[in-house]
Amino acid sequence: MTQVAAESVVPGTERTNPPAYDVDKVRADFPILSREVHGKPLVFLDSGASAQKPRAVIKAISDVYENEYANIHRGVHYLSVRATELYDEAREKVRAYLNAAKASEIVFTRNTTEAINLVASSFTGQRLKEGDEILLTELEHHANIVPWQLVAERAGAVVKPAPVDGDGIIDLAAFEKLLTPRTRMVAFTHTSNVLGIITPAKEMIKLAHDKGIPVLIDGAQSAVHLNVDVQDLDCDFFTFTGHKLYGPSGIGVLYGKAELLESMPPYQGGGDMIEYVTFEKTTFAKPPERFEAGTPHIAGAIGLGAAIDYVNGLGRDAVAAHEHDLLQYATAQISELPGIKLFGTKGEKASIVSFLHDDVHPHDVGTILDQAGIAVRVGHHCAQPLMDRFGITGTVRASIGLYNTRDEIDKLVESLDHVKEIFG
Ligand code: ALA
Repeated sequence: MTQVAAESVVPGTERTNPPAYDVDKVRADFPILSREVHGKPLVFLDSGASAQKPRAVIKAISDVYENEYANIHRGVHYLSVRATELYDEAREKVRAYLNAAKASEIVFTRNTTEAINLVASSFTGQRLKEGDEILLTELEHHANIVPWQLVAERAGAVVKPAPVDGDGIIDLAAFEKLLTPRTRMVAFTHTSNVLGIITPAKEMIKLAHDKGIPVLIDGAQSAVHLNVDVQDLDCDFFTFTGHKLYGPSGIGVLYGKAELLESMPPYQGGGDMIEYVTFEKTTFAKPPERFEAGTPHIAGAIGLGAAIDYVNGLGRDAVAAHEHDLLQYATAQISELPGIKLFGTKGEKASIVSFLHDDVHPHDVGTILDQAGIAVRVGHHCAQPLMDRFGITGTVRASIGLYNTRDEIDKLVESLDHVKEIFG
């Protein structure tokens, strides 16, 4: 899938969308995009927080509730068997999406956060001793910091961040130096949710593996924008969530190499994760069921499968090319605006643009944009250590999805100009 080097942007570039990608047709698939906000057409540039849903996903969810719903793995009756088939099909769709070797390597969770907590608790936490280290990076979302701190604290271990430079690029030499004989786990984002910067994941995984250290990738953003291949990356664990990938909220994914998942104790106990239960002792099911205690989000998994079908149907390369075009266009236009500083414009990037107005607080910028019908995220983006690294408290973030247009970027830029007029 195409990735963009934002530093190569030529301001005012006139590149057009690839002909195969009809963004108007794509937009018509998303009912919410035709609504107005504050009397203005909605311009939704907050897909990095959670993406909007195409009719195909909404329909898959309502179809299952209207026609094919029952609990899975529990019944001999028709609907239970049918719902189980649909749930299993969804797992297979996720497997193919990530190019995992086996469907049993795909565990459904609530979200990325739960997937990371699962690994921190059932894998890393089991192996940690006092003085051990867990290596992260300064780019991380709180979801890829706090779970490691919780398990580290219990064991007397420490969490260390590998530094990034002023552009948000990982210092690979420093990262390598921080891989010590005490490092038990490496976990880092594949794509920064604040900057859109794509980390050199394959290289970092290899550096860690050369020292025998397992690696978890937070793919919450990358699974949306990149062609992820977990076998090619050779990561031990990969996590992402449905709601950013145009699917429902409440459903996430943990990919884990089969031998690692098999070595891990359950994360939670309950129904559907057991082999045999007596009051004296319980034996557990094999992965993935071992990690899916209780009734799962059945319709959520099926909805995620529909979202994957939808994105595949558009063509992942076509989507990436469209987003690449918009990222270049937005970066070029915003960088021309006086009094606005862009963050993280170097290196390979996915379609996320973060910036700060010299004199106007991000929350004020966000409020003015909202009045124009434009949704962006403002604040620390659940990445306070990265904000500290840059010496700021927050940014304005426009995160671009497969349904956004150049016209919407123009509206964003016009409204940013208006911010200047209001605040002088
Ligand atoms: N992780 C989501 C974001 O970056 C919520 O906005």
